[in-house]
Amino acid sequence: MMEGSTHPKVVVALALAPALLDMLVDCDLTFVAPDGSEEDRLKSALADADGVLVNSNVAVDRDAMTSAPGLRVISTMSVGLDHIDLEAAAERGIVITNTPVLSDAVADLTMALMTMLSRRLPQAMRAVATGGWAVPLGGDLAGKVLLLVGFGRIGRAVATRAKAAGMRVTYVDPMDRLPVVAGVDRVDGLAAALPDADFVSLHVDLNAGTRGLMGRPEFALMKPTAFFVNTSRGGVVDQSALTSAVTEGGIAGAGLDVLQDEPPLPDDPLLKDPNVIIVPHIGSATTETRQAMARCAVDNLLMVLRGAGEPFVVVPSPNAGA
Ligand code: DGY
Repeated sequence: MMEGSTHPKVVVALALAPALLDMLVDCDLTFVAPDGSEEDRLKSALADADGVLVNSNVAVDRDAMTSAPGLRVISTMSVGLDHIDLEAAAERGIVITNTPVLSDAVADLTMALMTMLSRRLPQAMRAVATGGWAVPLGGDLAGKVLLLVGFGRIGRAVATRAKAAGMRVTYVDPMDRLPVVAGVDRVDGLAAALPDADFVSLHVDLNAGTRGLMGRPEFALMKPTAFFVNTSRGGVVDQSALTSAVTEGGIAGAGLDVLQDEPPLPDDPLLKDPNVIIVPHIGSATTETRQAMARCAVDNLLMVLRGAGEPFVVVPSPNAGA
């Protein structure tokens, strides 16, 4: 039985498989497009909602929360939270949950991008596709220094893989009390860590403290032979600084799952650069991971509405008062 009401009202701005919809059988459901195209409809549907299920395409801003006096939970099927006004939610006492069950999928993609860049796979594939058989000489991962910017769940999953590939793994992260991973070295500060790295990979949330974290001064500290990988959020990078660095030879190349504009504008110079690999925000896009995320989002929502269980709560902050 749900706390407060036998039939809580839930707005579903997610595409859910029938088995997951069955789990919501005790709720009154209103469906909103999961691509973020129905902002007004979302707001009006929230007016009498107890809970909402969204993904990272669906923004829930202060306005949307103001129009939702009874809203108790925003359950997002994503690990990133930059589409939700966390401060407004905290002020209103709305619980926010996320789905941190995608680390392996994102870590696999990170390794794939690093391998593609270092082995020059796009160049090799293009050569064969255009009738050639020229061998582009790449570089090994083994023996290279990987700098992880952010050492949360995803950063640590990348570290495990990179160590198995023989890389020397370092990280920067302002958080205290992070788990110690054998053979992975913490460095104090990005500026101290960047000059030694052969690969730099971002694994941080987008928030006021990380927006534009990689800018001109940071790219200038990277080796001209180093590769840059971003599977976090486009906003963590000053994209014009990245474009200059890669097109002017300041760095060797970039593998990007996320961009400032998604999809990119057709005349974005990064699209044409032979040393840049861009994929369409596919970090979590495996069948298994997307199923696990959807299930986790529904479980989180129901646990909050029922007041039972252990949802992945990010607001209120689990560290509050610690
Ligand atoms: C996430 O979960 O944050 C992924 O980047 C998908 O948005």
